Amino acid sequence: MPADRLQSRRAFLRFLAASPILSAAGLSACLDPGPGRSGAGTGEGGGAGSAGTGEALLNHLLSSPDEAINVFDFQEMARALLPPAHYGYLATGVDGDETLHANREGYARYQLRARRLVDVSTVSMGVTLYGRDWSTPIVLCPVGSQRAFHEEGELAVARASDALGHLQILSTVTTTSVEEVNAVRERPVWYQLYPTDDWTVTQALVGRASDAGCDTLVLTVDLPVGSNRETAQRMATEDSRDCTDCHRSGLAEDDPMGFPSGYLDRKPMFQGLDLSQVGFDTPFMTWDFIDRLRGITDMRILIKGIVRGDDARQAVLSGADGVIVSNHGGRAEPSGRSTVESVEEVVAGVNGAIPVLMDGGIRRGSDILKAMALGANAVCIGRPYIWGLSAFGEPGVAKVLELLTEELRIAMQLH
Ligand code: GLV
Repeated sequence: MPADRLQSRRAFLRFLAASPILSAAGLSACLDPGPGRSGAGTGEGGGAGSAGTGEALLNHLLSSPDEAINVFDFQEMARALLPPAHYGYLATGVDGDETLHANREGYARYQLRARRLVDVSTVSMGVTLYGRDWSTPIVLCPVGSQRAFHEEGELAVARASDALGHLQILSTVTTTSVEEVNAVRERPVWYQLYPTDDWTVTQALVGRASDAGCDTLVLTVDLPVGSNRETAQRMATEDSRDCTDCHRSGLAEDDPMGFPSGYLDRKPMFQGLDLSQVGFDTPFMTWDFIDRLRGITDMRILIKGIVRGDDARQAVLSGADGVIVSNHGGRAEPSGRSTVESVEEVVAGVNGAIPVLMDGGIRRGSDILKAMALGANAVCIGRPYIWGLSAFGEPGVAKVLELLTEELRIAMQLH
């Protein structure tokens, strides 16, 4: 959806939410059907159908980020505010969203054993990664196309996360260039790399990230081919809006994600490149790709998408500087296995040689503590900060980070 339409939709909803005289019956016609109304898969977080009427939708609209009690409050707003195709893109897992749900449920399989009578008057949440200090272990995952969620997109995320001392990883398919994002941050982002199937394009992306001041590449290895994102497809089908920058209305036969042709041309990192033959699929990629990358850059290389101990060992042997335990937020393989359950074996696999980060389903400070207790050096969040972004832009992202940080502090002091 073009930024001006998204903005006016947001303003309109806010106006409605603030108006005591409009009846709920009158409102429902103006609002999107929530995912729960369609019978579609609802992505994660539950609450399907809770936003089934205009009145219920408006109940989820906070008038300020400070009203949020936890990160799920922003999810409800994002669901209400975003066009269905955009919310579906964010919410989707694969197949019936089993892996997405597993990521969340995995944390319940671990419980924290509290130690008593320890002086917890002060706790330090800071972490050091590759010689740089960060205020907490909470890193912002790469998420594509952030201007589909708020007109300020990646810049709002950059400002909020930098001000609070968090590391941000920028997606290959960012809707704001790496140069612009780094310009508003004191410390540069890490750059996530989808290598594409064209080495010339890979070289150009890597060179550009490096020239823009990034010192770290995050190579995503969990999507050698496209995945079956049914929730995204279903919600795109429901979306009749004219949004040719982002998605077609209805299902695209030649592209199950519903992306219009020329999708990449409109992404700033691909501007000026010959994209006539380029595709995202990299089924040919094997471990020697790390060597190949080494040959063209001095940047640190992390491998994102590792879920097994033997792969973790291989990552060390291949010269990776770190790994991220990830199944792409449950949107890559339909394994049904949570990432938190992979942390221990990956940590054992690297055997202290390189840092281990993890992502997947983090929604609470206690989730972070569990992942760290299992050996992760830091954790990455994705959907929660995009919910905050969708709801309020920069202050929404900041509030999500503050809520998780505060929950982490409490969890640390109580355990
Ligand atoms: C991109 O990384 C996506 O998961 O859509």
